[in-house]
Amino acid sequence: MDSEARRPSSLQTLQDFVTAARAALSDEIWDYLIGGSETETTVCRNRQAIESLAFRPRVLRRVDKIDTGADFLGKPVTMPVFLAPVGSIGSFWENAPDALGRAATDFGVPVFGSAVKAEMLDAIAAAASGPKVFQIYTRGDRAWIDGNIERVAAAGYDACAITVDNAVTSRRERDMLKGFEKPWRKAATGMNHQAAFDWDDVKYLRDKHAIKLIIKGINTAEDAAKACEIGVDVVHISNHGGRQLDSGRGTLKALPEVVAAVKGRAKIFIDGGFCRGTDIVKALILGADMVGIGRMYLYGLATDGYDGVTSVLNILENEIATCMALLGAARLSDLDGSLLEAAVPVYPSHVHSAFPLLSHYQPK
Ligand SMILES: Cc1cc2nc3c(=O)[nH]c(=O)nc-3n(C[C@H](O)[C@H](O)[C@H](O)COP(=O)(O)O)c2cc1C
Repeated sequence: MDSEARRPSSLQTLQDFVTAARAALSDEIWDYLIGGSETETTVCRNRQAIESLAFRPRVLRRVDKIDTGADFLGKPVTMPVFLAPVGSIGSFWENAPDALGRAATDFGVPVFGSAVKAEMLDAIAAAASGPKVFQIYTRGDRAWIDGNIERVAAAGYDACAITVDNAVTSRRERDMLKGFEKPWRKAATGMNHQAAFDWDDVKYLRDKHAIKLIIKGINTAEDAAKACEIGVDVVHISNHGGRQLDSGRGTLKALPEVVAAVKGRAKIFIDGGFCRGTDIVKALILGADMVGIGRMYLYGLATDGYDGVTSVLNILENEIATCMALLGAARLSDLDGSLLEAAVPVYPSHVHSAFPLLSHYQPK
C-alpha cells in the first residue's frame, strides 16, 4: 500500500464517519443513502445475519505477524474487501470517481464503478490504475449490452459485473414519503429490457465476451449453480443492500448454501450490511473470497472524499487484523468454520446496529 494512503485522521472510529457523513449530507441524500425498500426489513436482516454469529477464538497461536493480503481475480490486494458499485457517488462528493478510484488504488483494494455513462467509465478507469470492475445494468438489447461490455473491456477493467437483482424498480418509501425523486432514477430508460433479461442472455454474453463476468445479486444455491454451469467467473451474493426486494433474507444467511452449490467452480463475493472488520472476517470464515462494502465507504466519501475513504479503509484493515489476531489466525487461510457458532444478536438489528454507541451522540 502507498504510504500516502495512511494519513492520520482526527476521526478514529468507523462510527465517527457515520456521524460526520450525517452532518455533511442533506436529509434527502442521507435518507437515500441509508434507506432500503418498503419496510426496510431486508436492510435489517443483512445486519441480523451477521449479528447472529459469535466467534470461538483460539489462543496461543503465533499472531505476531498478521497478513490480510488476498487475491482478487489473479491480482494481489491489501485485504479481501472491495468498494461495491454505487451509481450516484456524485451525490456524496464532488469529483467522486477520481477520489474513489485513487483511494482504492492507493490503498490496494478493488473499486467497482457503476452506470454506463462514458464519463463515469472513463473517469474511474483514469483514476484507478489498480484492480477495478465496471458494473452494468442491462437496459438495452443484446447489441446495446455487447457494446457496453466491449467499452468496459477496452477501458482496462478486470471484470464486468452485471447486476440482476433489480428486474423492476423497487419502492423506496423513505424517499417517497418526502416526495424526493432521485433525478437519475427518474431518467432511467430501458427498464423493460432489464425485466426481460434472463439466463439465456447470460449464456450468450458468456460465450461472446472474454472479459471476466460477475453476476451480482444472486441469493440462492439454485441460481449460484446455474451461474456456474454457464461459466461465470464470480457469483456475487447481494440483495442491493436491502434496496430492492423487501422481506428478503440477510446475504450472510445465503452464503453457506451458495458455497456448497458453487463447489469451487467460481469465486464468491458477498455484500450487504458489512461495516466492521469482524463482519468481514465472519464472511471469510464461511467461505467468501471477497466482501463488498457500500454504505460504509460512502460515509467516508461524504465526509472527506479521498481522505475519508482512505481512513475508513485504514480502520477496517486495522479491525480485520485485530480480529484475526484475537482469533488466533495469522493468515486468511487460517480462518476455518470452527471459529464461528450461532448466537442471538445482542442489539436489535438495523442499518446502524454495527454502531450501537451512535445513539449516545444523537447525530443530526
Ligand atoms: C446509495 C447506493 C447506491 C447504489 N447503487 C448501485 C448501483 O448503481 N448498482 C449496483 O449494482 N448496486 C448499487 N448499490 C448496491 C451496492 O452495490 C451494494 O450491493 C450494497 O450497498 C451493499 O450493502 P451495504 O450498503 O449495506 O454495504 C447501491 C447502494 C447504495 C447504498
